[in-house]
Amino acid sequence: MSRQVHELFPDPRVIVLTARIDERAIATLSERERAATGRMREKRLREYAAGRALARDALERFFGVRGFDLLNGEDRAPIWPDGIAGSLSHCDTRAWVALVEASWGTIGIDGEHRAGLERHLWEHTMLPEEIADLDARPPEARGLAALARFSAKEALYKAQYPRSRTFMGFHALHVALERQDALRCTFQETVGPFAEGFVAEGRWRASETGELLSAVWIPRA
Ligand SMILES: CC(C)(COP(=O)(O)OP(=O)(O)OC[C@H]1O[C@@H](n2cnc3c(N)ncnc32)[C@H](O)[C@@H]1OP(=O)(O)O)[C@@H](O)C(=O)NCCC(=O)NCCS
Repeated sequence: MSRQVHELFPDPRVIVLTARIDERAIATLSERERAATGRMREKRLREYAAGRALARDALERFFGVRGFDLLNGEDRAPIWPDGIAGSLSHCDTRAWVALVEASWGTIGIDGEHRAGLERHLWEHTMLPEEIADLDARPPEARGLAALARFSAKEALYKAQYPRSRTFMGFHALHVALERQDALRCTFQETVGPFAEGFVAEGRWRASETGELLSAVWIPRA
């Protein structure tokens, strides 16, 4: 059973649906989707299937696209229907899909089901100034703020990839956690069409069901 997530993106034309991971989704995979699952382990298969069920639901209900098989390219990026930009995320508890008309821009979404980002992962995923910002926060707030940054980087990666087709490392982006739930993602180097200094905005929130959810958008200029 899916439900809509409101006010994550700044424009209601971006549709976000979420559902709990449910192994019954596996039986709803199409033949081509099923063929693409290869030797996926049970957990991965459940999450993959939950994402496909959500995408199919959202495409039908909001974009009039019926029976679409959501496959991935060799680079693992999802292949959305022509004219639609989307993003998918799943963790052990939930899946999310965000979709919009491609003329609007590209979007990224990321969900994480953990209390915080462990300290030993900070250096690999964050810039020295991002770590300094975390260390300046009260100790009990650091893990969650670190997770919000990490999740924002994953969401940004998914939003930029369809336009750059370029891998981007964690240190190529600076994420500022701004007032309330706002994110400001600044490219530290040029990546495809995005020049060093390019800024993408986003938002994060702790969901009512215990996950952290973040979203980043790159509207068409
Ligand atoms: C691609 C990546 C961001 C996915 O994040 P994740 O936490 O592993 O998993 P999530 O469940 O949130 O997202 C998985 C979905 O992302 C989507 N995805 C995978 N590669 C993608 C890409 N290149 N572009 C856009 N979306 C992509 C897929 O739909 C995938 O789900 P599916 O395999 O069921 O179709 C991550 O695996 C990765 O490669 N990260 C390294 C690059 C990075 O994050 N750099 C930070 C730059 S600032």
